[in-house]
Amino acid sequence: MTEFAGKYVAAIDQGTTSSRCMIFDHAGAVVAVDQKEHQQIFPQAGWVEHDASEIWDNVRAVAAGAMAAADLTREDIAAVGITNQRETALVWERATGKPIYNAIVWQDTRTDRIATALGGGDANKYTAKTGLPLATYFSGPKIKWILDNVDGARAKAEAGELCFGNMDTWVLWNMTGGTDGGLHYTDPTNASRTLLMDLDTLQWDEGICADMGIPMSMMPEIRSSSEVYGTGRERGPFRGVPISGILGDQQAATFGQACLSPGEAKNTYGTGNFVLLNTGTEKVMSKNGLLTTVCYKIGDQPTVYALEGSIAVTGSLVQWLRDNLGMISSAADIETDARSVDDNGGAYFVPAFSGLFAPHWRADARGAIVGLTRFVNKGHLARAVLEATAYQTREVIEAMNADSGVDLEVLKVDGGMVVNELLMQFQSDILNVKVVRPVVAETTALGAAYAAGLAVGYWESEDDIRENWAEDKTWTPSMDEDQRAKLYAGWKKAVTRTLDWVD
Ligand code: G3P
Repeated sequence: MTEFAGKYVAAIDQGTTSSRCMIFDHAGAVVAVDQKEHQQIFPQAGWVEHDASEIWDNVRAVAAGAMAAADLTREDIAAVGITNQRETALVWERATGKPIYNAIVWQDTRTDRIATALGGGDANKYTAKTGLPLATYFSGPKIKWILDNVDGARAKAEAGELCFGNMDTWVLWNMTGGTDGGLHYTDPTNASRTLLMDLDTLQWDEGICADMGIPMSMMPEIRSSSEVYGTGRERGPFRGVPISGILGDQQAATFGQACLSPGEAKNTYGTGNFVLLNTGTEKVMSKNGLLTTVCYKIGDQPTVYALEGSIAVTGSLVQWLRDNLGMISSAADIETDARSVDDNGGAYFVPAFSGLFAPHWRADARGAIVGLTRFVNKGHLARAVLEATAYQTREVIEAMNADSGVDLEVLKVDGGMVVNELLMQFQSDILNVKVVRPVVAETTALGAAYAAGLAVGYWESEDDIRENWAEDKTWTPSMDEDQRAKLYAGWKKAVTRTLDWVD
């Protein structure tokens, strides 16, 4: 135990669209929450950026907001965990803590040519070492882009004056020191998304870093996912409180869903969808377009790995309908519109806004709405939007079944879209498996809290996590096989229409 024997554990969830602070009690119940959205910056087609200073201001604000909401002081908090949108890459000056460029978001496709050139015709050049194909999704090529394109960046990097970090590292740096220089650490779950980490050694691979022209001095130290890294700084939101957990958001959700044994899987419905299957201490290499990634590493315990099916666009398609088209005024309207019709009316919406991720890995794909006739109305399109999430999930679950040789029987779900009853029923129908939602659907923040709480002895062991998990609702398949096959065949055909769009 540390000097802080507080009653609660806090988690910072720095996500793609917003930053949140959630405070949990020993039973894993939510005590307080505060959340703030940040600006999505689209400088040109295919580019997506975030202002890292705005993000840090929001993190401070929501930390203070959540503490105030439950009338807590720092003495009430035993530990703080950090979870984050993964892959999003930031470079800042070590001396000043100032970013030299906006954070390049995981959805950004500007590094397509860099990734292709690095592979020299082999997209799997680094897969055996890193578990990942060469794709725009990951951090390494984004760092290279910044060093190649920001004035003076490469010289400064070579002089040791710059730091790279994903958003976990940026938040930790600022929580522990900020402009005075904070801790420059990351954890293996985040590091495993850079294309720069060796999955066996959990260390940066100097050869791959050299291929991308990334000096080792920029790279954060890779620590475990659960240990006391340091304490919150003076004038920071959690002064003196141990900061003791870091997990990328999808791995955090897997942990929070108590998928702690090999064969257990979850699907998080956020900006995108991410299915993770715990494969235990065995590193399974996919033959079907999935990623091999670190699931978690608790202190000095053995590394646990996962297979992951990453889908770039699901919830963000609903956001796009709201913000870019004005077709709905709030995300909840999508279900109301979809319920106004019985089916998709023949329409399919393939949201290949960032190309297609798993299992296709096609950077050349772009979004398409197909199957339109004069009959199709707003309700049918709303349905096509929701169905797209479920079909994309089926694609990655099929890949997972093929890789593992075992058919998934139950899918644990979490994230914002799981309040959508129509989607959850359709998901169960199209997969032909049970779909189960836990009482605490905010498993991302909860997983980070667990990692932090385990490190300070607030929770004793992973058994506490299993005991805290409780079912809220289960959906059971009710669609007949012909209908399921017909709908999915339509989807497969629609996907072919999005390919080869970009040269
Ligand atoms: O890999 C990207 C993922 O970590 C983003 O998650 O929930 O912010 O969409 P989310």
